[in-house]
Amino acid sequence: MDVIDAMDTRLELREYSDESIDDETLRTILEAGRQASSGKNLQHWRFVVVRDEDVMAELADRSPTGGWIDGADVAVAMCTDPDLPYHDIDAGRAVTHMQLAAWAVGVGSCIYTVEQAAVDELLGIPEDYHLSLVVGFGYPVEEVRGHKNRAPLAEIAFADRFGEPLELD
Ligand SMILES: Cc1cc2nc3c(=O)[nH]c(=O)nc-3n(C[C@H](O)[C@H](O)[C@H](O)COP(=O)(O)O)c2cc1C
Repeated sequence: MDVIDAMDTRLELREYSDESIDDETLRTILEAGRQASSGKNLQHWRFVVVRDEDVMAELADRSPTGGWIDGADVAVAMCTDPDLPYHDIDAGRAVTHMQLAAWAVGVGSCIYTVEQAAVDELLGIPEDYHLSLVVGFGYPVEEVRGHKNRAPLAEIAFADRFGEPLELD
C-alpha cells in the first residue's frame, strides 16, 4: 500500500481482534514514528509501549474518551518536552507516521488524549515530560474500507488569501 492509498483509506479503529501484533510489525510501526521530523530535529519524544493487559485495563479506566484502549493489543503513550512550543505538533507528526505505517501493514489504530495526572504514576512518566496522547493499535475485527466524513477541499483550501476560492483543474 502506498502512502496516498493509506491516507485515503485509513479510518480510526476502536474495535480490535484478538490477534497479537508481532515484534517485527511493532518495530515497523515504532520505526515509522522514529523517522518523523521534529522541530529543530530535537526528537524529544519518548514512546512508552504498553502491552501488559492489566496496564491497558488501567489506561481504559482512567480515560473518559479512550475506554476502547482495553481492546487494543498495544498502546503507545507519546511523551514530549512541554518546554518546546511545538511539542504537541511533533507528537502529532510522529503518531501520524505510526498510524499510516500500521495501516499499511494491516493494523488499525486510534488516538486519544488523556490527563497526564491520571496516568503519570501508572506509566512512570517523569515530571519534565508531558503526555501528549495515547494511540492504540490492533488488527481490525473485519476488513475496513475507508469512507471518510470530511469537508470538501473548496471549504478549507484558499488561493493566496484566506477565503479566496482556489481553482484547480
Ligand atoms: C487530537 C485528536 C484527539 C482525539 N481524541 C480522541 C479521543 O479522545 N477519543 C477517541 O475515541 N478518538 C479521538 N480522536 C479520533 C478522532 O475522533 C478521529 O480522528 C476522527 O473522528 C476522524 O476519524 P476517521 O479518520 O475515522 O474519519 C482524536 C483525534 C485527534 C486528531
